[in-house]
Amino acid sequence: MTELPREYRLRQATSQDMGVIRWLVLKEFLDPTQLRSQQFWVIELKGQIIACGQLRTFAQAQELGSIVVQKSYRNQGLGTYVTQHLIDISNYPLYLECLGNQLKNFYQRIGFVEVDFETISPELQQKFRVTSTLANWLRLPLYIMVLKKK
Ligand SMILES: CC(C)(COP(=O)(O)OP(=O)(O)OC[C@H]1O[C@@H](n2cnc3c(N)ncnc32)[C@H](O)[C@@H]1OP(=O)(O)O)[C@@H](O)C(=O)NCCC(=O)NCCS
Repeated sequence: MTELPREYRLRQATSQDMGVIRWLVLKEFLDPTQLRSQQFWVIELKGQIIACGQLRTFAQAQELGSIVVQKSYRNQGLGTYVTQHLIDISNYPLYLECLGNQLKNFYQRIGFVEVDFETISPELQQKFRVTSTLANWLRLPLYIMVLKKK
């Protein structure tokens, strides 16, 4: 999807959107930390938020996170669209953490590649340590990925 259909609107989130955004993120068991309206973009249809995503900013890097599309609107390219927009406005090396091969493939198609935990900055290691340790213990397929240069 290079352009959104006319009835859909991509816009920056406001503080009034945070209730819906929190619900979207928590329902999918995604990282509930740093959910700040200034960092979020949403796709709206007829006044309702149907997708969201955010950039968390660290000293030397950014993290793509909280990418969610409401179930009934999936597989139409909206997840790719919001991700691509966040990539376009990102200005640091862009990392993400994802669980499972389907998501890994999804992000690989967009331009991310897997990286080893040991190779990322101490700041990001701190951010990803808890989930990485848990995933190791539970043998879950958790991946840390970085965007190949824009
Ligand atoms: C991942 C997600 C954002 C994709 O949104 P989308 O609008 O359906 O994505 P697009 O239409 O642009 O692309 C479709 C691709 O998404 C991926 N996808 C679709 N549903 C998925 C799901 N439930 N889990 C993982 N990946 C999924 C597939 O790779 C699919 O490609 P395929 O057609 O080859 O199977 C959406 O499935 C979602 O909200 N999942 C739950 C929240 C989540 O896991 N977010 C990612 C956190 S890292």
